[in-house]
Amino acid sequence: MARKIIIAGNWKMNKTIAEAKELVGELKGLVAAVDAVEVVVCPTFTSLNAVVEAAAGSKVKVGAQNVHWAESGAFTGEISADMLKEIGVEYVILGHSERRQYFGETDATVNQRLKAALTAGLKPIVCVGEMLEDRESGMTEQVLLTQLENGLTDITAEQMANIVIAYEPVWAIGTGKTATPEMAEETHRYIRCTLKSLFGEVAEDVVIQYGGSMKAANSGELVAQKNIDGGLIGGAALEAESFAALIKNAVN
Ligand code: 13P
Repeated sequence: MARKIIIAGNWKMNKTIAEAKELVGELKGLVAAVDAVEVVVCPTFTSLNAVVEAAAGSKVKVGAQNVHWAESGAFTGEISADMLKEIGVEYVILGHSERRQYFGETDATVNQRLKAALTAGLKPIVCVGEMLEDRESGMTEQVLLTQLENGLTDITAEQMANIVIAYEPVWAIGTGKTATPEMAEETHRYIRCTLKSLFGEVAEDVVIQYGGSMKAANSGELVAQKNIDGGLIGGAALEAESFAALIKNAVN
């Protein structure tokens, strides 16, 4: 079975509600005729509701950028998985490197959030990736292995089939430095092999996205790689035209 291609825009802390609605309004039309790809946008919490409404009836799906592990309670500033489900959110990004770097996210908290997301029926996009110094010191595979083993602790093979992995080399995020298609493919292959050793044959069905300075000019050659099944896009997802062009080039 061929794997699905999933291309998701991570808007990070960008876009007012008005801007978010405008972007999705434009994007819907631009990608309506593009087949064989799942298109996801991940706005800020304040825009989620409006974006779910704006995307209704189109092929654009909506994701959040984080979720808390508890069902409810004294967790000031947090949002639960059921709260996201209630408004029609389908996906959630977990363990993005910015959350690891600036907000103390660890593999253990990613794992807790992941379990809560799965229980609520959200589709998690679990981010992994090495820092520049890891790559330069030959530690990339060790870093990824630790993130995968610990982030995916106690997950069953059945659950793994519903989890998307996003490989985002931290040195390629927002820097304009993309991993070459060959370099990215080699790492994606390593991730799939690791998933196979942890979960068995289901690894062949797991969607592994690439993230880090992906744009219309390079999405085609990246997604053409055997083990690259889409992308998690920052900057190029902030305008409907550039995001749509990236999506079209990725699948044509
Ligand atoms: P850029 O596409 O801006 O490099 O960001 C990638 C990213 O962090 C997506 O989650």
